[in-house]
Amino acid sequence: MVLLDGKKTSDILQAEIAEEVIHIKNNQGKIPHLAAVLVGHDGGSETYVAAKVRACEFVGFKSTLIRFEDTITEAELLNCISALNMDDDLDGFIVQLPLPKHISEEKIVEAIDPRKDVDGFHPVNVGRMVAGMPAFISATPFGIMELIKRYHIETAGKNCVVIGRSNIVGRPISILLSQKGIDCTVTLCHSRTKDLKQICAQADIIVAALGMAEFLTGDMVKQGAVVIDVGITRVKSDKTKSKWKLLGDVKFDEVSSKCSYITPVPGGVGPMTIASLLFNTLLSSKHEIYP
Ligand code: GUN
Repeated sequence: MVLLDGKKTSDILQAEIAEEVIHIKNNQGKIPHLAAVLVGHDGGSETYVAAKVRACEFVGFKSTLIRFEDTITEAELLNCISALNMDDDLDGFIVQLPLPKHISEEKIVEAIDPRKDVDGFHPVNVGRMVAGMPAFISATPFGIMELIKRYHIETAGKNCVVIGRSNIVGRPISILLSQKGIDCTVTLCHSRTKDLKQICAQADIIVAALGMAEFLTGDMVKQGAVVIDVGITRVKSDKTKSKWKLLGDVKFDEVSSKCSYITPVPGGVGPMTIASLLFNTLLSSKHEIYP
């Protein structure tokens, strides 16, 4: 069994980005600039955004953090987005989700200029991705594809089962894996799927992205399968200093002994997500998606 080391791969990807930033700076005198909008004080969002800002510093990007209290109105947030859309110094920005209940995430995401939507959440980017056109691809699916490519995992003609149909992970990764050149035969499973165990048992590649801790057990996986674990559920633990630990959607001890490749949690898909966001920002600064 080979561990798909997301931390190491993300470090390599970030080092490649940092090298390119030096090149751009020397030739054009400009450095890529990413902004993050954070509304309220959700613990998870605070952690993710802080990690994104740190990663920007590491690769030499300029970063701007814009914070609002969770009392901000939808109209005020929309005004902020239109100012960011018009800011010529910015290559891309993200609005960290989830947003407070009184704000429509759909409206906010739709208000972002697709050319600056480095999260790849805007329907224009999703549509372009589905059509196989150049697009910003959302960070988690992009990170998974990068792991698969960098570990030279064979995909052509393989049976791939994706568990979970979220807009951010399950649905886009199912499309990317079925694209020409990747060529998996993809089955997208969800809460109403019948005989999930039997379907998983046929899979050469499983992507577990349903958000239920340790859902995928050893008896659901065939010998030699590749397993990608997207889950990160925080549970209480007496065994760690912080009193918390992270669990994936995969029961690691049972499943790993049957796999050819598997991502650990933490240290698998998670670190790839941040590197992918930086990569999208770099693409935006070079006008590669929208010339
Ligand atoms: N919340 C959880 N993951 C993400 C992400 O990738 N981008 C944004 N904007 N919010 C998130």
